Amino acid sequence: MKIEFVGAEAPFSETAAAAVFVHEKEGLQGEAARIDGLTNGALARAVSVARFSGGIGQTLDVLAPAGIGAGRVLLVGAGPAKGFDANKIETAAAHAYQTVKAGGAQTLDLRLGDVAPDLAASAVLGVRLASYRFDRYRTTEKPEKKPSVSALSVSVSDPSGATSAYETLSGLADAVFFARDLVTEPANILYPEEFARRVKELAHLGLEIEILGEKEMAALGMGALLGVGQGSVRETQLAVIQWKGAADPEAQPLAFVGKGVCFDTGGISLKSPDGMEEMVTDMGGAAAVSGLMYALASRKAKVNVVGILGLVENMPDGNAQRPGDVVTTMSGQTVEVINTDAEGRLVLADALWYCQQRFKPKFMIDLATLTGAIIVALGKDVAGLFSNDDDLSAKLLAASGATGETLWRMPLPPQYERLIDSAVADMKNVGPRYGGSISAALFIQRFVNGLPWAHLDIAPTAFKPGSTIPTIPSGATGFGVRLLDRFVAENYEG
Ligand code: BES
Ligand code: ZN
Ligand code: ZN
Repeated sequence: MKIEFVGAEAPFSETAAAAVFVHEKEGLQGEAARIDGLTNGALARAVSVARFSGGIGQTLDVLAPAGIGAGRVLLVGAGPAKGFDANKIETAAAHAYQTVKAGGAQTLDLRLGDVAPDLAASAVLGVRLASYRFDRYRTTEKPEKKPSVSALSVSVSDPSGATSAYETLSGLADAVFFARDLVTEPANILYPEEFARRVKELAHLGLEIEILGEKEMAALGMGALLGVGQGSVRETQLAVIQWKGAADPEAQPLAFVGKGVCFDTGGISLKSPDGMEEMVTDMGGAAAVSGLMYALASRKAKVNVVGILGLVENMPDGNAQRPGDVVTTMSGQTVEVINTDAEGRLVLADALWYCQQRFKPKFMIDLATLTGAIIVALGKDVAGLFSNDDDLSAKLLAASGATGETLWRMPLPPQYERLIDSAVADMKNVGPRYGGSISAALFIQRFVNGLPWAHLDIAPTAFKPGSTIPTIPSGATGFGVRLLDRFVAENYEG
């Protein structure tokens, strides 16, 4: 999308859709009042005959008002003037884009008047996030089915201030798109080695990337992660991404670990076919960690961060691991694999152990589309947070509130530890159906070696068909990138 910032009184255009914010129950103010004056009261007359009160999500079209040479002026509800913050303007601007994107205009002309530069930048972020599309495999779509709007013009009293405020947010939008693309790519294209290759391309941002193959992982004793990939013709990979932005490149890093199951058939414990295609998104945790590293590098975050991705495909095969197999993890602990579909925790077990052994990080946060049970518990808009550390949890919940990527803390009751006792090994990889997300988290906790740790079960939020959030078009969300970028920025950059 082409983006430009221009002055507040820039001329209107016939081929652009102008959009102006109106606060709830305030009448027309600011830029809306100015345009109303230029159009001889056309906006106020439209409001007086419509059910439009300026609430977020409401829009009102005024077509071809006389006096300004604009084909269309869209009034966009912005909610109450009090509390009109970055999140609100982002959402309102995204609604504006969603309303006009297929209406024939080529440009969305956001008329912001004297809105502050950082809020103007957030409005642009909202439009960009809303404009995400994945078109790579469409060859026959008719042009009239595609969005007509391909450019955004923002008219604001301080265009140069808004331009520089948008610079950091632009990298964040690119990072979210990077994560969304990874989640959307089909599994015949994006298998572990291809995922690793795409991550290696991020070296141009200043990230250091290493890829471990099966031989290296076998030498390290990663029996759990390798067991998951045993039935796949694709080679399992472990990606290690480092960002050294702190003044001291040796300073203790933060660590993020992602589940990257490029496709989860369930393995020998095969899933039922209904909806199995959605398991192409089972690498949403690894995608979010990749997007986070992208975002941190693109804004040159002043902190050292490690991202680790366990990249693997879970397939049934003559060589696949069987229910009842016992694997030895890198930690030395043994696991009875009762259900080969509970593979995410096996991936994380070795990735987390490797991470804490090699990097001795301040803490580890893992992201994983781990359990269907967390969707039963929390629904599709909220991800589960499990943690052994109240301070880390509080910081994550604060970042969650600020970005609208909602987390809800779940318990880790010690009395449930017995649910994963095994008769033949140190533990089994599944507990009973009830509390399935909790026993999964308790399993993972056994591989953090006492470090402060948080586990985000993002199975609900990584992929949303039929999303109703305007900044998230249906499909891959990139959930976690914005949340963790904010979490790092607020707490660890001095
Ligand atoms: N990848 C799935 C979890 C999942 C389900 C993610 C729905 C996104 C949407 C995970 O590997 C899995 O299969 N979990 C099982 C665990 C069970 C066998 C204990 C589940 O949730 O059913
Ligand atoms: Zn599974
Ligand atoms: Zn899975």
